[in-house]
Amino acid sequence: MTQTLSVLFFGDIVGRPGRDALSLVLTSQEKYFSEKFDFIIANVENASHGFGLTQKNHDQILSYGVNCMTSGNHIWDKKDIYQYIDTSDALIRPYNYHKSARGVGYRIFDDKILVINLLGKTFMQPVNCPFQAIDELSEKLNFNDKIVIVDYHAEATAEKISFARYASSLGVNAVIGTHTHVQTADERIFDEKCAFISDVGFTGAYDSVIGMDYESSVKRLITSIPERFDVASSSSRQINAVQIKFDRVNNRALEIKRFNFTYETTKEEHEG
Ligand SMILES: [Fe+2]
Ligand SMILES: [Fe+2]
Repeated sequence: MTQTLSVLFFGDIVGRPGRDALSLVLTSQEKYFSEKFDFIIANVENASHGFGLTQKNHDQILSYGVNCMTSGNHIWDKKDIYQYIDTSDALIRPYNYHKSARGVGYRIFDDKILVINLLGKTFMQPVNCPFQAIDELSEKLNFNDKIVIVDYHAEATAEKISFARYASSLGVNAVIGTHTHVQTADERIFDEKCAFISDVGFTGAYDSVIGMDYESSVKRLITSIPERFDVASSSSRQINAVQIKFDRVNNRALEIKRFNFTYETTKEEHEG
């Protein structure tokens, strides 16, 4: 076993274009990435028709080789989540919902990798304070002997940076922002131990508005009348992810690298 643990983290997978892109890059990893990964995380809150996650898509994404699925505010959008969320051993939902919420907000993999999901507080639905939540978790779980990764699902970049610095002081080793679907170019390592990016971006239709159809999006903005959103049916796809390398001995993040690539699907792939 090498001394480095390499994690690949995909931004929000949006609808079928996102699932197809995820499947493609994970089934032919050597074509897209120069290195192998020890652990793969994907944010799946938009994986089924842009809203939520069905059990069928949950099982499909696991079969592609994803080890942990994180989520966000949209995780509740498909009704069948309530039927299977308590049986999944890979999916987490934001920890800082009310204690009555189904599912769990963190999971520990191989006694070593602790993945936590939190919702931000600025311009988001009111939830329990994420700063207080990470305080509680740092007291309850021993952060020192684990690689601690937080999916911080939030809108405001200033909040994400503030949270990452705070979490780093508590022993968190990576804070990866999700939710805005737009990849930021601010990846860095705080305190020589905590990897950070404001937003990892999304995986899905490239010719779109954050994965969704342009026509309904612009109509809603012009008229202010609710409009049904559909996943964009673009034949071009984008893949947004980050790779984080950790030292297995002291758990520190050593490196964070962004991936942002696009590709054109064949006619069969697009229509099939
Ligand atoms: Fe999302
Ligand atoms: Fe979200």
